Amino acid sequence: MGERAAIILAAGQGTRMKSARPKVLHPVAGRPMLDWSIALAETVGCSRILVVTSPNAPAVSDHVAARLGPGNVAIQDPPLGTGHAVRCALPALAGFEGDVVVLYGDTPLIPADAVERLFQALAEGHALGVLGFDAIEPGGYGRLVTGPEGGLEAIVEAREASPEEQALTLCNSGVMAGSASTLSTLLSRVTNANTKGEYYLTDAVGLARADGQACAVAICSEADVLGVNSRVELAAAEAAFQTARRQVLMQNGVTLQAPETVMLCHDTEIAADVTIEPHVVFGPGVTIQSGTVIRAFSHIEGARIGPDCDIGPYARLRPGAELEARVKIGNFVELKKTHMAEGAKANHLSYLGDGRVGPAANIGAGTIFCNYDGYAKHVTEVGAGAFIGSNSALVAPVRIGDGAYVGSGSVITRDVADNALAVARARPVERAGWATAFRARMSALLAGKGKQ
Ligand code: UD1
Ligand code: CA
Repeated sequence: MGERAAIILAAGQGTRMKSARPKVLHPVAGRPMLDWSIALAETVGCSRILVVTSPNAPAVSDHVAARLGPGNVAIQDPPLGTGHAVRCALPALAGFEGDVVVLYGDTPLIPADAVERLFQALAEGHALGVLGFDAIEPGGYGRLVTGPEGGLEAIVEAREASPEEQALTLCNSGVMAGSASTLSTLLSRVTNANTKGEYYLTDAVGLARADGQACAVAICSEADVLGVNSRVELAAAEAAFQTARRQVLMQNGVTLQAPETVMLCHDTEIAADVTIEPHVVFGPGVTIQSGTVIRAFSHIEGARIGPDCDIGPYARLRPGAELEARVKIGNFVELKKTHMAEGAKANHLSYLGDGRVGPAANIGAGTIFCNYDGYAKHVTEVGAGAFIGSNSALVAPVRIGDGAYVGSGSVITRDVADNALAVARARPVERAGWATAFRARMSALLAGKGKQ
């Protein structure tokens, strides 16, 4: 396999999103759409990735610079069409002799094998490969005109198409591959003599054919090449991802009791024999091992969950939550950057932030790890088999020793030794007969008032 590059087009305005945020930075399944295209380029082995963006969207340039490097940004100013956009990226590929795939920054769900088939078509001697799909409503899509042998003859934009061409349902996804030199040669010949006055990337096909070069079309499903122009289409892309990924999880042995209510992230990893109850939301960076149950209404992100854990209902696991085997996290328990060793439990109403909880330790209801003093975060350690009584506040930095007990309602500000008991609350005071005397006094008072 020769070297590969990707040019990702993202210089469009995206005005229909009605958003201060550039369109391609809106997330699908917890990842900006642009990053889907970048990840796709990486998956198919592109060693060079260029994102074409507008000078009016510095957030996109910054994003690309942070994700890939400043040399991976190509500015198109002004935007004169898709062919012009690709040309704007070519100088950055000077000296590159491999194959190039053109992707869009607003088309997140393209499967890698579809792009792989385009590179395959180039390897078989085609000058260009185009990803096409059969559209239910071809509308504004460019139409793919094929020859008797199925080869690609031309791409005709909808607004330039004859009635016969309009009737074609095989449409252009926008994804096209060709060698860097082929694209460079063909695009230097594309003109803007069309109804939009733009340099169309799609014209490269007709020019290649006029030179007697063969072009190929690879077919994928319409859902695979869903482009996002509006919030409604953003929701459609999200739904398409969610439906497909839930199916894959279930096929792999995960129980989803109400699949349509579970929101997955692009990188959610769930092993076989995990059960997910209804209404669970996953953010990025979650892995769950076999035998674990996630109960209803839990919210989980950045968490590594071991085997045979019991989580929720109404649990919140935030980034850095690390749970070993057989950990129990019950209702209204929030974890952030906290490690729970094997068999540790926090069953009710707790906040555990910046903590390390030893094996089989028990965190009682209402325990708070007071990790923040307004300036810095501090660590709370709870030893193996320790028992934290309900409604305790552990003021970090602090360590509760192995096997130690903390009495309910304590505020612990100093380390507790192994196997000790720490109690930090006022002793109860009991006055015998006080209540009887109090009631008698109050009754007398009320009786006195009632007479008047
Ligand atoms: C394009 C294709 C059409 C295809 C459709 C698929 C052309 C001429 N037409 O049409 O055949 O069916 O996509 O969705 O290629 N962009 C730039 N710079 C520009 C213009 C566009 O970066 O100067 C980017 C946009 O941000 C977008 C992509 O290229 O990501 C496509 O541009 P758009 O204007 O939406 O093309 P369409 O008219 O939809
Ligand atoms: Ca479009």
